[in-house]
Amino acid sequence: MSIPSLTIGKHSVPYPLIQGGMGVRVSAANLAGAVAKCGGIGLVATAGLGLNSPHFDGKNFFSADPAALKDELRKAYAIAPDGVIGTNCMVAVSNYETIVRASCEGGAKIIVSGAGLPLNLPELTADFPDIALVPIASSIKAAELIARKWHKSYNRLPDAVVVEDPDTAGGHLGEKMEKIGDGSYDQYATVRGVKAYFQEMWGVDIPVIAAGGIWDRADLLHALAEGADGVQMASRFVCTEECDASDEFKQMYLDCRKEDIGLIMSPAGLPGRAILTHFDKIRERDVALKLRCPTACLKKCTYKSSQERFCIVHALDRAQRGDTETGLVFCGTNAWKADKITTVQAIFNELFDL
Ligand SMILES: Cc1cc2nc3c(=O)[nH]c(=O)nc-3n(C[C@H](O)[C@H](O)[C@H](O)COP(=O)(O)O)c2cc1C
Repeated sequence: MSIPSLTIGKHSVPYPLIQGGMGVRVSAANLAGAVAKCGGIGLVATAGLGLNSPHFDGKNFFSADPAALKDELRKAYAIAPDGVIGTNCMVAVSNYETIVRASCEGGAKIIVSGAGLPLNLPELTADFPDIALVPIASSIKAAELIARKWHKSYNRLPDAVVVEDPDTAGGHLGEKMEKIGDGSYDQYATVRGVKAYFQEMWGVDIPVIAAGGIWDRADLLHALAEGADGVQMASRFVCTEECDASDEFKQMYLDCRKEDIGLIMSPAGLPGRAILTHFDKIRERDVALKLRCPTACLKKCTYKSSQERFCIVHALDRAQRGDTETGLVFCGTNAWKADKITTVQAIFNELFDL
């Protein structure tokens, strides 16, 4: 089977692969730049970037965050000057609008946005019409809602849609906890349904990208054969030299067993998939320190409102920096397959038979 290239809006890459955004500096400039240099789309995840940045003085999260994002985009373009580099922006964060605007000003060519419905994304990017806009949806209904709103209010449609499978993907998931893993979700029926919806309703053939559970060449070929125009892969890129997380974070992937990976309820009100071996320690730490919400980084957060669960941005930040005793390590269901630290190019070589 010959593998097609991928064009999203005005941007084309030789390989139909988006590196999934991994928040709080797991996919920052190094990983996104490396993926773009290899011929995929590299995404800087914007969530929580300010924390582990020289702009942060312990209090100014909301001014550090966009400045840190622009730094990461600059550094990513230094690695891949002609690459297709974009950002992943989570609707659930308090500074979503600022971060989308900073993505535009910092030169993102594509914005992938989920963790909520990105209903006003076209408005926020109106001055930057060349930026491709790509919502993440886990259902045909969510894709329809976004398309209808964008068309009605902004006369625009998504340039592509990422269909993220809640049964396999890492990080926050777009499905109710009780429905995850109950056998009712069909990833590729959703991919084909979204594709058909845009063709039939709007007469456009936009790329639909499958995310979740794609690890190797066989998975990639399967996704393409099942109707996806490309794949978004995240967990596979963690155990690379270029991934921006600490060695300890990567070691968690190398050490984890299949049964160590499971679901948590995030204080953001969404389920999430993570390595659970030390999960109790995360909340115990916050309780022991009598930690109050330090940043109000999320629009809705049970820790912010009632100290329920734990402070997620700092838990992710600790893990990214190497505290995997009390830090949160998000991962997809395939993370246990990681068995060595490799390079982004080596992954491309395997995936695309180079
Ligand atoms: C460590 C980690 C962090 C993630 N952070 C984000 C994020 O900030 N925003 C987002 O939209 N998705 C996030 N995701 C989801 C990925 O972008 C991706 O869609 C998903 O993990 C794909 O499944 P895979 O990991 O099996 O390839 C994260 C995933 C992981 C593993």
